[in-house]
Amino acid sequence: MTQARRGTLGSARGRSGFSRRGFLRAVGISGGASTMFAAMGALELAPTAEAAAAPPYRAPRASDFRLTGRSAASVVVLGGGVAGLVSAYELGKAGYDCTILEPRGRTGGRNFTARAGTRQSELHGYSQTARFAEGQYMNCGAARLAQWMVTVDYCRELGVPIEVFTNYNADAYIYNEKSGMTPGRPVRYRTAEADTYGYVGELLAKASDQGALDKQLTAADRERLLAFLERWGRIGAKADGFAYRGSTRRGFGVWPGAAGTPGIELSPVPSVSEVFASGVGRYFSFNLNYNQAMVMFQPVGGMDQLPKALTRAIGPRRVRLGCQATSVTELAHGVRVAYQDGTGQERVVDADYCIAAMPPHLLAGLPHNLGSAVQRALTSIAPASAGKIGLEYRSRWWETDHRIYGGITETDLDLSHIWHPSYDFNGERGVMIGYYNTGSRADRYGTMSPKAREERAVALGSRIYGRKYRTELASSFSVSWQYVPHLEGAWHRLPGGSPDAPVLRPLTEPSGRVLFAGDWLSYTDGWQHGAILSARKAVTALHARALKHEHRSTPAERGAVHGSADQDGGE
Ligand code: ALA
Repeated sequence: MTQARRGTLGSARGRSGFSRRGFLRAVGISGGASTMFAAMGALELAPTAEAAAAPPYRAPRASDFRLTGRSAASVVVLGGGVAGLVSAYELGKAGYDCTILEPRGRTGGRNFTARAGTRQSELHGYSQTARFAEGQYMNCGAARLAQWMVTVDYCRELGVPIEVFTNYNADAYIYNEKSGMTPGRPVRYRTAEADTYGYVGELLAKASDQGALDKQLTAADRERLLAFLERWGRIGAKADGFAYRGSTRRGFGVWPGAAGTPGIELSPVPSVSEVFASGVGRYFSFNLNYNQAMVMFQPVGGMDQLPKALTRAIGPRRVRLGCQATSVTELAHGVRVAYQDGTGQERVVDADYCIAAMPPHLLAGLPHNLGSAVQRALTSIAPASAGKIGLEYRSRWWETDHRIYGGITETDLDLSHIWHPSYDFNGERGVMIGYYNTGSRADRYGTMSPKAREERAVALGSRIYGRKYRTELASSFSVSWQYVPHLEGAWHRLPGGSPDAPVLRPLTEPSGRVLFAGDWLSYTDGWQHGAILSARKAVTALHARALKHEHRSTPAERGAVHGSADQDGGE
């Protein structure tokens, strides 16, 4: 569409004989690049917001079929993760007859919440059962929602209440042992930020004042920069060389109280060299990422409230748990999926269409007749590793002793990220995420037994939090996503880092009866948002085809061609 527009308009010449190129040159010279870009947008020559965004999503409706003389088709969905569930849920709005085949005993995929009694086996043979107390849980995979994400809209639509997930907490810790921090002496974010911004502010103010930025800044710019730095870094006056000497922002050793008790500020203030050597600043930019924020959200009672609500809305009878697809065959006018049910029996389900919403690297391992381009696309996507451990504690000592309510502690230990729970504040017990790591760190923990993971997590975490990290521990539960059967990965490495890599086109613009959905076909891989938007894209394409007079095979035709009619045994 954009290409076509560009092609038509790019070469056109107005009736006046004034070419677009000439016009734009004139605009560019007089108004600068941004004015020219706006003019290009008006002429539909530049990528516009509409071109970069998907058209507004419109769910399929049963009434769409009214004038077509057709009815909703049957669809087999491979995988009951979020992409598969949303596909079936959306198609269900128009009356499609959907069947989800899900090999695990639960829906949700990497949206997985462990609570008392949750069992999980990993491919190397380790099995665990969560022993958390009533009401305690950990989100093993998906765990935070950005406010702009469509996942939040599904929570609203399905009546799943959400609450704040504290993604950044000024009172959480930073602990970099390789940079020389002493066990038991982590620094709080607020202190680390006060010192870092303070010294950066001082240096920049000095540089600017000494004329080092005169080529870049006008005198007015310099004044404004200084005004900003004074507030941002809490630095001293010019007469004092703009010196940063610490401030109450760093926090207190003794908190201020009533009259007569002004408190004692944290001291001493480290030197500029000490602050940069500590490496604390490397964590500050995390919340600036577009998919992160200080305030994020989570469903009340566990992330799996969302797949549970989707499953209820779809109708549990449409979801076949314990059913593992074993082959996918595109027929002349439909799709046949062979699968093994929970009892080990071989079965077949025939449908007009299929949405393959299972991990691409596992789909690539299934016998199929979808062609070499599809296979090449599937094998071009590599799974990535990540793991978490939930440490349940008998008391919420991080709240009472450390005054940390939610948020994330960062460390250069191989634990990477330690999460404080964002629910049940001031309650009796709580589940900390003792590590959330990725890549080679996750690979390392993944090969350990659950007990060894717990031991290492507790030994390292104790260096930050002290004795209670060990003594208050009640139980643990860990997940290593690359070893979870039927998933074998946390997210993906896409070819060229993009779902629009040409090799993936057979999956993003499929021509046959099998369509594809998953976070791996989106720009937010590793997020439910991406899974949902890719499911909506597949649903939209499928519905458009079903509305056209695409031939659908009858059971008799299927039997004639393939020697067997529907063998599906139902529930
Ligand atoms: N969605 C994942 C996270 O929040 C990547 O860490």
